[in-house]
Amino acid sequence: MGAVACVAAAIAVNAALWAMRQRSRSVPTERVAVRAAACEILEAKCLACHDSRKPLPFYAMLPGPGSLVRKDVREGIRHWDLYDVGHLGDAATVGQKEAEEVPLGRLIKLRRTVADGTMPPIQYRLAHWGTTLNASERQILNAWVGQVWGAWLSGWGLGDAAAADVHPVPQALPYDAAKAALGERLYHDTRFSADNTVSCASCHAFDKGGTDNLPFSVGVGGLKGGVNAPTVFNALFNMRQFWDGRAEHLAAQAGGPPLNPVEMASKDWAEIVAKFEQDAALKTAFTTVYPQGFCEATLCDAIAEFERRLITPNARFDKFLAGDSAALSEQEKRGYALFGAHRCATCHAGPALGGLSFEYADLKADYFAGRALTEGDAGLAAFSKNPADAKRFKVPLLRNIALTAPYLHDGSQTNLKETVRVMMKHQVGASAAEADLDALTALLGSFTGELFGQPLVP
Ligand code: HEC
Ligand code: HEC
Ligand code: HEC
Repeated sequence: MGAVACVAAAIAVNAALWAMRQRSRSVPTERVAVRAAACEILEAKCLACHDSRKPLPFYAMLPGPGSLVRKDVREGIRHWDLYDVGHLGDAATVGQKEAEEVPLGRLIKLRRTVADGTMPPIQYRLAHWGTTLNASERQILNAWVGQVWGAWLSGWGLGDAAAADVHPVPQALPYDAAKAALGERLYHDTRFSADNTVSCASCHAFDKGGTDNLPFSVGVGGLKGGVNAPTVFNALFNMRQFWDGRAEHLAAQAGGPPLNPVEMASKDWAEIVAKFEQDAALKTAFTTVYPQGFCEATLCDAIAEFERRLITPNARFDKFLAGDSAALSEQEKRGYALFGAHRCATCHAGPALGGLSFEYADLKADYFAGRALTEGDAGLAAFSKNPADAKRFKVPLLRNIALTAPYLHDGSQTNLKETVRVMMKHQVGASAAEADLDALTALLGSFTGELFGQPLVP
């Protein structure tokens, strides 16, 4: 009798919640309201499994089914943690800064799961009636993604294509010619290094896809770093810089290598500035543009301005995106279909095909099995100091990927097809036929673009 009453009560509660959760809403017109409505939906239907700060529900402590719930929450958080989005309802942070504060990569994933209807997982929907997203909720979530993603893309002149996850590299971005010219000289200047032997170009060479084609870069005195050098090409599209995201933008990034003991190894900025002060010609040119003269801020600003020119448009892939269907072979087109179907595009999104989220290298399978962990494997945790961020890396850019071997943060893969195999196993969690790996690899070959109007070649 007691059991029947319990079941009846559970059904009654669930039915009441169902009615409440099925409420249809209209899409608000105000940006702030769209965001607040979206956050309300996430809170009601998603965050139980996607917010690492939330305590587990009481039934997760039950023996038996509790362990399944714990597994769902653990996996849910690893795939998509919205701990910092939980308070997005906070209107104070909405506005121009919205795109910077909302992790773009996670929004792309949100839109994808809204479209394919996979979330919340079916077992959750059976236990929590009415948590399936209804049509109006899907509209609101999509409107939120569209407004933030669209605003960010607009900053690059790509705003009219907010419905797509991947985008062509813009033809050109506005830049200050005088500053960029100084930045170009500095980029090739070895005086940033302690013994005047190493420049930015030593490790980010223009004839090597903006990298050094080494597993680990070699700095002053032959010292080696612990992570593979990413490309400088299109780096300005990264939400943050470095594998662990420790630099907020390019100017902050440029301040790193000169004093890094295994890179340029200068003692301090005074040592570098003193060298430039002795160069009368450079000093005159520099102070014309930067009256305050040489210092970390101005030197880095000039280099960052030059990096606005290091974008690589007009890849065959871009021509295809622009509507030229003949720009890709049949095999490459099949590769692009697989790139979407396997969700490569939700991590490798945007104009540079990456750089918009941090993901676990061992998301679906233990990437680190069989080898000792190194300092370089700390990933985002090295910067965030949150142990849960260990082994999470900024998703690398796939532009010009055919030119930038070896691959991955540890430089462990020399072959592109084998790298795709690693992705299928560790990020996608599915096996792929050899022909599919070949098609994906062929597609990656079409991502090679032009620098300063000249095709990049191996
Ligand atoms: C019962 C727990 C649970 C709930 C509730 C839940 N999820 Fe998930 N979510 C998961 C799990 C587990 C995964 C990892 C599954 C996988 O992709 O293998 C996941 C993965 C995801 C991903 C990442 C997909 C990817 O491509 O990596 C997104 C995005 C997502 N969920 C969105 C949502 C949204 C939106 C809601 C609410 C409408 C929601 N989830 C509700 C458990 C949950
Ligand atoms: C000795 C080799 C070396 C030198 C010299 C060097 N870099 Fe790097 N660069 C690297 C390595 C290695 C990384 C990755 C480090 C990390 O993520 O912790 C990197 C990262 C970067 C990134 C971040 C890219 C991304 O996707 O996160 C940019 C941009 C960059 N370097 C530009 C520069 C500039 C500008 C200079 C000159 C001021 C410079 N580098 C000098 C090796 C070097
Ligand atoms: C869940 C996010 C995610 C998905 C899905 C994903 N990747 Fe990646 N990708 C990453 C991360 C993170 C890395 C860096 C891992 C590392 O360095 O250890 C990476 C690295 C790569 C690299 C090497 C880049 C370099 O410069 O070293 C290639 C190539 C690549 N991915 C292609 C793909 C392809 C093709 C697919 C689909 C089959 C895919 N990725 C799916 C997150 C993802």
